[in-house]
Amino acid sequence: MKKAHAPYSNFQVGAALVTRSGEVFSGCNVENSSYGLTNCAERTAIFSAVARLGPAMEIAAIAVVNAQNAPCSPCGACRQVIYEFGPKAVVYFQGPKGWKSARISELLPEGFRLK
Ligand code: THU
Repeated sequence: MKKAHAPYSNFQVGAALVTRSGEVFSGCNVENSSYGLTNCAERTAIFSAVARLGPAMEIAAIAVVNAQNAPCSPCGACRQVIYEFGPKAVVYFQGPKGWKSARISELLPEGFRLK
């Protein structure tokens, strides 16, 4: 979260995931002056894990934090990416009344799969 590049939203986010093999990867949001190119913290962490371990890595759990202590569950795009690499993943995030956890299948029912 402290490494976030968020000069446009001023909303700094960090994410950490643990794989089934027990390895931890973290990420932050990286914004761009062309706003739509922004990468969320969750996807940064996931892409970093894939780059290090390859596409067979499986997310066991992923947690999201932000510097404003605001409710912040993963966006729709990140839910789909979490599902791709961890269909059984547990997601920890801040809800309106404090920390929550949910399976990705609850956050993204009927996630898309090509095969
Ligand atoms: N953001 C994340 O990194 N993760 C989330 O779960 C929600 C939103 C980022 C994207 C953008 O840089 C900023 O927060 C405001 O939307």
